[in-house]
Amino acid sequence: MARENLRFPPGFLWGAATAAYQIEGAAREDGRTPSIWDTFSHTPGKVLGGDTGDVAVDHYHRWRDDVRLMADLGLISYRFSVSWPRVQPTGRGPAVQRGLDFYRGLVDELLAHGIQPMVTLYHWDLPQELEDAFPSGSAAGGGWPERDTAYRFAEYAGIVGEALGDRVEMWSTLNEPWCSAFLGYGSGVHAPGRTDPVAALRAAHHLNLAHGLGAQALREQLPARARIGVSLNPSAVRPLTASAGDLDARRRIDALANRVFTGPMLRGTYDDDLVADTARLTDWSFVRDDDLRITRHPLDFLGINYYSPAVVSAATEEDAAAGPRKDGHGASEHSPWPGADEHVSFHRAPGELTAMDWPVDPTGLTDLLLEYTAQAPGVPLYVTENGAAYDDKPGEDGQVHDPDRVRYLHSHIAAVHHAILAGADVRGYFLWSLLDNFEWAYGYSKRFGAVHVDYETQARTPKSSAHWYAKLAASGELPREYVAD
Ligand code: FCB
Repeated sequence: MARENLRFPPGFLWGAATAAYQIEGAAREDGRTPSIWDTFSHTPGKVLGGDTGDVAVDHYHRWRDDVRLMADLGLISYRFSVSWPRVQPTGRGPAVQRGLDFYRGLVDELLAHGIQPMVTLYHWDLPQELEDAFPSGSAAGGGWPERDTAYRFAEYAGIVGEALGDRVEMWSTLNEPWCSAFLGYGSGVHAPGRTDPVAALRAAHHLNLAHGLGAQALREQLPARARIGVSLNPSAVRPLTASAGDLDARRRIDALANRVFTGPMLRGTYDDDLVADTARLTDWSFVRDDDLRITRHPLDFLGINYYSPAVVSAATEEDAAAGPRKDGHGASEHSPWPGADEHVSFHRAPGELTAMDWPVDPTGLTDLLLEYTAQAPGVPLYVTENGAAYDDKPGEDGQVHDPDRVRYLHSHIAAVHHAILAGADVRGYFLWSLLDNFEWAYGYSKRFGAVHVDYETQARTPKSSAHWYAKLAASGELPREYVAD
């Protein structure tokens, strides 16, 4: 007898996620100016194959068709990001109406199809002018290491809040600030490609401040029913053994990957161990008196992005001598872990690998959902990103069969169910990604979409995972066992 399906709570949001720079293209249209990702991707050697987001999947022109596709798949929600340089080209001053109109049109079309929008304000495309400006004159330079950028973000948040607040209920300030700070300014594998550990820590703080100031600015514009949150990518970090050295390595990475954001956002503090571990680099005097009250703006929800766990140990002698290592986001001579390199070694977690070489282990997702249930009591959780890249190709029948992705999604969605049964208040799941797209430093070489894109013709073909996900969204029930198509 078939065992019962896993049932999700009524009203659970089944969605898919994208980000502006990864899909829109139209990089120079309608007044848009370059973001740090335009500059970075046009710098030789930064992105695999010299790929850029100039055209991407041309969503800026194909958005109506893309919304129809979402409706055909029965998506209940769609998480997308607004391109800052499209609506406020220089990162300061008045908005460009055409930019705002694009997002108003998109939201209206979504609503007309019964799809709830979730807006992310910042998914990494900082206006280049803000990267180049440093009014405070700090030696750490412009962009996120510069305090003023947080205030510019708040202004931008107010502009978008005013334009879309009457029709969008779910708002996320930042996407994965860890990547913005530590890959953008530490290891340099993401834009703007700087490699300065102090700049990375300053960036982390100014992103926290931007989140708080941005949430305040949104609150002033939005009706009371609107919900404001943030999407983090906390690391499910595990010690290799239970030895004191390995546990200490876990503590260090938990501080630099997780508590550097959840401390200020949830508790209004930078933990003492984080400050002590980085004391050789900075005295943290860039944190001003009132900042940690602002960063602790009440969260209406917390978004968790999850792909894979991390395994750490005390630094092996070999690693301590060899210096920074690959971190799964691109190779660099520089470390994304300020102050931790001589103490920590990273190990491959067990499990099959995706095309990103990221191990498949759904238990990390259950662990994170339960951990943040404990850390943020009463705050609803959403999985705002989860998914996998595989080398998908159309078969002879013209269809794209991606059983590996279906298996990945099945196991991770079951892991979400597991967390719900154990007491986590998870209200939705957003598959990364709706479409194959520009995967940052990997360009178009990695396909995360449930919908295949032929980059020559821009033809969209839903993969078997998209059909599988459509059934799940329609029924709200996950078969207990994974069944191949
Ligand atoms: C996350 C990003 C998202 C996408 C996935 C694979 O870190 O938020 O844009 O690239 O990884």
